[in-house]
Amino acid sequence: METVNQLLDSIKDVGRDAVRGGYSRAVYTTPELELRQWFIEQAEQRGLDVETDRNGITWAWWGKPQDGALVTGSHLDSVPGGGAFDGPLGVASALAAVDLLKSRGVEPRRSLAVTVFPEEEGSRFGVACLGSRLLTGAIDVDKARNLRDAEGNTFADVAQANGLDPRHVGRDTAALARIGDFVELHVEQGRGLGDHGPAIAVGSSILGHGRWKLSVSGQGNHAGTTLMADRADPMVAAAQIVVAVRDTAAKQQDARATVGRLTPVPGGTNVIASRVDLWLDARHPDDAVTAQLIEAIYGAAREIAAGEGCSVSLTEESYSDTVHFNPALSRRIGELLPGAPVLATGAGHDAGVLAGHVPSAMLFVRNPSGISHSPEEYVADEDASAGAVALADVLEGLL
Ligand code: GLV
Ligand code: MN
Ligand code: MN
Repeated sequence: METVNQLLDSIKDVGRDAVRGGYSRAVYTTPELELRQWFIEQAEQRGLDVETDRNGITWAWWGKPQDGALVTGSHLDSVPGGGAFDGPLGVASALAAVDLLKSRGVEPRRSLAVTVFPEEEGSRFGVACLGSRLLTGAIDVDKARNLRDAEGNTFADVAQANGLDPRHVGRDTAALARIGDFVELHVEQGRGLGDHGPAIAVGSSILGHGRWKLSVSGQGNHAGTTLMADRADPMVAAAQIVVAVRDTAAKQQDARATVGRLTPVPGGTNVIASRVDLWLDARHPDDAVTAQLIEAIYGAAREIAAGEGCSVSLTEESYSDTVHFNPALSRRIGELLPGAPVLATGAGHDAGVLAGHVPSAMLFVRNPSGISHSPEEYVADEDASAGAVALADVLEGLL
């Protein structure tokens, strides 16, 4: 029996990123596969039966696989240079909660599964929560198979190299039927829980969010011989578009919009780029407002691009509506955790994708600075322990 802190400690060296700091554990890369192997070993040590389904989701069963089981879990992949807790905290807490339930002598009335979902962050193939989207049919399978990573590998090829049959990825009603209730514990990614008071909150909703790609095209050319007046430089347009994204979102209450990734093509110091790709992440509670926001950003981008002698296109890569977690399940969890505050989140989660199909809920563990998707993400040991106990209390009450 290991505590959640011991479990996290045992993976603290996996996938450290010496350049960015923090962890880079993209799906189906060596560190993420090492973490999955760690999970399988931990599950087997606990007598759980492990299987990987046709979408690459790992299930560790306490009791026989059955319809209507209680399921908990999270993910092990990370953003580039991410923190130690986003994902692994939920997986390690689930394992620790199984230990706690066994030490309490709990005899489950239904089976419990601990799951690990692949590509929650979308860091490699661009679509967040790819595993749960495939499971629920929330992504077209051909689109999924043809997603490409930065090296140009398709998801189909990478999945195949990792033991999946790309012909069989996609909606899995049998696997979905096994989820009677889904509870995901996750590090809080804002400052919703103060330094005093409860360390654990019950989730209420997830902000609607999506990803779009803006491609700005201009004239690739020589940095030394092209006069300033003769340029159609997409990088100059892209810089202004980044500012327009910030300004457009700042004018809209409750909106968030970010350009976190930008790639100049071909990308040379002495080369005026021929194209710059920017990825936009935009979020708002009202999906109609998000649509207006994207339209306003695209309008500004077209004007900026034209002013620089360039053109711009916009493609939606993924979208998730605002999600409200199952009220009855969340209420029941609130009763099991008296005094726990109720928190909405601006971050996306597999629980949000599953919520449209099965009763889903979330627990959040305090993150004092609120910093996440950064090496500085932090959870105090005592709060992580409180999270595992809270998850065990919830699972015991729901089993
Ligand atoms: C995932 O963490 C997201 O909110 O993008
Ligand atoms: Mn994340
Ligand atoms: Mn996460």
